[in-house]
Amino acid sequence: MSLLQLQSVSRRFGALQALSDISINVDHGELRAIIGPNGAGKTTLFNLISGFFPPSGGEILFDGQPIGQVNPASLVRQGIIRTFQITEIFLSLSVYENLRIAAEVAMGVSHKPWMSRALRARIDARVDELMQIVGIAGKADRIAGELSHGDQRVVEVGIALSRKPKLLLLDEPTAGMGDEETQNMTALIRRLNKEQGITTLFVEHDMEIVFGIADRITVLDNGSMLAEGTAHEIANNPAVQAAYLGQAA
Ligand SMILES: Nc1ncnc2c1ncn2[C@@H]1O[C@H](COP(=O)(O)OP(=O)(O)OP(=O)(O)O)[C@@H](O)[C@H]1O
Ligand SMILES: [Mg+2]
Repeated sequence: MSLLQLQSVSRRFGALQALSDISINVDHGELRAIIGPNGAGKTTLFNLISGFFPPSGGEILFDGQPIGQVNPASLVRQGIIRTFQITEIFLSLSVYENLRIAAEVAMGVSHKPWMSRALRARIDARVDELMQIVGIAGKADRIAGELSHGDQRVVEVGIALSRKPKLLLLDEPTAGMGDEETQNMTALIRRLNKEQGITTLFVEHDMEIVFGIADRITVLDNGSMLAEGTAHEIANNPAVQAAYLGQAA
């Protein structure tokens, strides 16, 4: 069974049909790219999957259970974790502190006035582990607001990981990054997928990245599904070339 199933999902905003008749199956362990021009409905798709608002029609299943009407907090507990198109971290806190807060929240021990040494050690071990996984351990004491944009997004991925995602949704994780930062983030996404086995959906405009790492690609255009397939299939799809790749090149 697929981990995530969208069955003929649609979403309207007043008169605007932002998504219509979207059917997608994402398998366990899959790394799936969502691509499409600006306004195609990519972020709206993420908002639906993560419960920010319900679909106007159709059904979304996670692990076989309908989640179309479930709120975001419950979905986070079920393991659907997202990052946003805009970076969201505590800029005045250090990398370590950002991840410590995230780890405490995830472990259900935030706002505890007193913590045992054993608990404190467990939290520290978890923060260390998160920093190692995303590769930011060397910058643990740096203030997040003084990091490069690329490193800030890495911290954000660390925060997402603290929740132990079963499904990770990354909305334009490399947006605004230079070449080296982009390569670093791309390698991180791939590592999380291959080594941690995290099923991942990512929105990305850079076709080199998409074709380089995605198992499968879903192409949205103007709220509809234009195509779906492997990099090879998408690159050779005439409708995609006409509507998107040709235009982007
Ligand atoms: N909350 C909302 N209320 C009203 N309209 C919305 C809302 N969210 C999205 N839209 C509209 O839905 C359409 C799809 O927007 P969406 O943000 O999903 O596109 P996108 O593919 O993520 O684009 P981009 O590549 O620019 O991020 C757009 O026309 C947008 O203006
Ligand atoms: Mg978007």
